[in-house]
Amino acid sequence: MKSFKDLVRANRSCRRFDNSHRIDVKTVKELVGLARYCASGANNQPLKYIISTDEAKNKEIFSCLGWAAYLKDWKGPEEKERPAAYIVILGDHNISDRFWCDHGIAAQTILLGARDMGLAGCMFAAINIKKLKEFLNIEDHLEVKLVIALGKPVEVARIDDLGEDGDIRYFRDENQVHHVPKRSLEDLILSAW
Ligand SMILES: Cc1cc2nc3c(=O)[nH]c(=O)nc-3n(C[C@H](O)[C@H](O)[C@H](O)COP(=O)(O)O)c2cc1C
Repeated sequence: MKSFKDLVRANRSCRRFDNSHRIDVKTVKELVGLARYCASGANNQPLKYIISTDEAKNKEIFSCLGWAAYLKDWKGPEEKERPAAYIVILGDHNISDRFWCDHGIAAQTILLGARDMGLAGCMFAAINIKKLKEFLNIEDHLEVKLVIALGKPVEVARIDDLGEDGDIRYFRDENQVHHVPKRSLEDLILSAW
């Protein structure tokens, strides 16, 4: 078993998968089950989830997502590298009008859980919400907050130290390794007493 630190480091956003590796609904429900234990502003627990492992539904969800905006020459994964499952995270206005950062906490927890199972994924905020709501018949009181794509990873990703030019854009090298520049700890901590 990986240490928690190793798990967090390994938990890079992944956008290319082995689509022949199917994921069943039970597995995705297990991941949403982790989100159930997450912190929630005022403990309102206003998030709801839609799960898809169905190929036709997955195709519709895929068409609503914006993939890796910094990779200008890449329009997203080809069919055999597409995600096998999706989780749509929704804020339920019948429960609360404030979702704080609940969806971010839930999404990260789900992705860590997926990585722990040997899966990987990516969270999406670049969503064609109108189209997604139509495809999935999402009722008006439900606000789309994030979509998570999941699958068996085929992408290799590395964390790099941010270069002197300060460029935070991720990129792929000639071997298709995905590089993610991260700011140094010294840059993040303003003071420490
Ligand atoms: C709130 C949020 C929204 C994101 N939305 C998208 C998105 O719409 N499309 C995408 O390809 N990646 C998206 N990402 C993934 C980021 O691009 C990724 O986290 C960043 O490049 C750092 O890479 P890492 O997750 O491997 O550390 C999103 C991440 C977060 C936290």
